[in-house]
Amino acid sequence: MTVYPSIHILGFGAIGSLIGVHLQKYGGTKVIPLFRSLERLNEFKKNKCKTSIKPLFDLSLGLVTEQFTSAACPETFKGKIDNLIITCKTYQTADALRPFLPYLHNESNIIMIQNGLGVTELLKEEVFTGTDLKPNLFQGVIGHGIFQDKEIKSQYNFAGFVNCKISKLPEDDKNIIETFDQLNEWKKNDLIKALLALENSLAVVHMTYQELLLGQLEKFLVNCCINSVTSIVDCINGELANCGEPVFTSIIEEALNVFQTAYKPLFEYPQIFDKTENGKLPKLDVAGRLNLDVTVKSTIEMGCIINGSNSSSMRQDVLNLRDTEIDYINGYIVTLCRKFSLPESDAKVNRTIQQLVKLRLRLNQTRHESQLA
Ligand SMILES: NC(=O)c1ccc[n+]([C@@H]2O[C@H](COP(=O)([O-])OP(=O)(O)OC[C@H]3O[C@@H](n4cnc5c(N)ncnc54)[C@H](OP(=O)(O)O)[C@@H]3O)[C@@H](O)[C@H]2O)c1
Repeated sequence: MTVYPSIHILGFGAIGSLIGVHLQKYGGTKVIPLFRSLERLNEFKKNKCKTSIKPLFDLSLGLVTEQFTSAACPETFKGKIDNLIITCKTYQTADALRPFLPYLHNESNIIMIQNGLGVTELLKEEVFTGTDLKPNLFQGVIGHGIFQDKEIKSQYNFAGFVNCKISKLPEDDKNIIETFDQLNEWKKNDLIKALLALENSLAVVHMTYQELLLGQLEKFLVNCCINSVTSIVDCINGELANCGEPVFTSIIEEALNVFQTAYKPLFEYPQIFDKTENGKLPKLDVAGRLNLDVTVKSTIEMGCIINGSNSSSMRQDVLNLRDTEIDYINGYIVTLCRKFSLPESDAKVNRTIQQLVKLRLRLNQTRHESQLA
């Protein structure tokens, strides 16, 4: 009989619940949600530790409910963490992870399933420092769309079924190429095996890091345009279909220039592929996919046409006066310039966009405060 490992989930919100419910229901895994405080854990317990997923994209699939009786928080935690899925917002990650550091070890598997870029660097530079901790780090890129129900707080509405790509993160940023042999080795890893049990129910796909990175950068560019611009000008995505192109072009052109330095090994991949024995590496059209014309067109198509009636998650955050993930989206271009000692002016468009999103949020908060006074 297969013995499935326990998996802890840090950030049991929309994405954390989606993955947790599916892992327990279809993956046979025991899932342990980790909450920020005793107060939040007790709220969860009041609802009998139950979470439901309502598949809005196909209601014939029916509501799926699971119970997570081992849920914990820093004050109640016992034992160790072998497998951890991080699904809090990017900017929440460092604070969320710190209380659980003593329970991690060098064989722990950690996957971050979040939008944006830069969390891995943050963990290595600011969270794991001063410890000998070197867990196995993985990255997930999730395309599914899900949100909390307004009335039933323990229910999440699964609105859009897309897929979830997963990969092992490289140990060394300069050596990002993963062969099919290495990929197959990672298929024996407990966390990868557990997630691959969701191949059908959540369309989980395990791929080489270079394949994941290329898709992640494409998705990142869409987010750099749609999330921030809809937040600044306060509109739904579709309203930018006929007028967004000039600003999208400026954002993407600058980001692609920075990528040429920051992700040099990816842009050099075709030469490496040509020199490698057939069948060892996947073929990738990096230049064909990460080019200005193609990415601007696909941003308009994906962002403004296919998801035209959507209000972006960042716009929702700004409207609801919550912090945003802007520092890990447009702000990450600014971070990359600093990291690679590029001139500050190489990120002037994305820095301005980052500042405008922060301004929009602050403005909304100030207006709200003055209404209350
Ligand atoms: N939702 C989607 O459709 C979607 C799609 C693609 C990608 N993503 C990405 O996935 C990530 C997660 O998004 P989400 O929509 O799932 O966000 P979310 O619903 O806000 O969930 C985040 C969860 O993290 C928890 N959290 C925050 N700080 C914590 C701490 N210190 N300790 C423990 N838990 C903590 C929050 O709990 P509290 O209530 O206590 O704050 C919340 O339950 C983001 O990067 C997002 O961009 C989301």
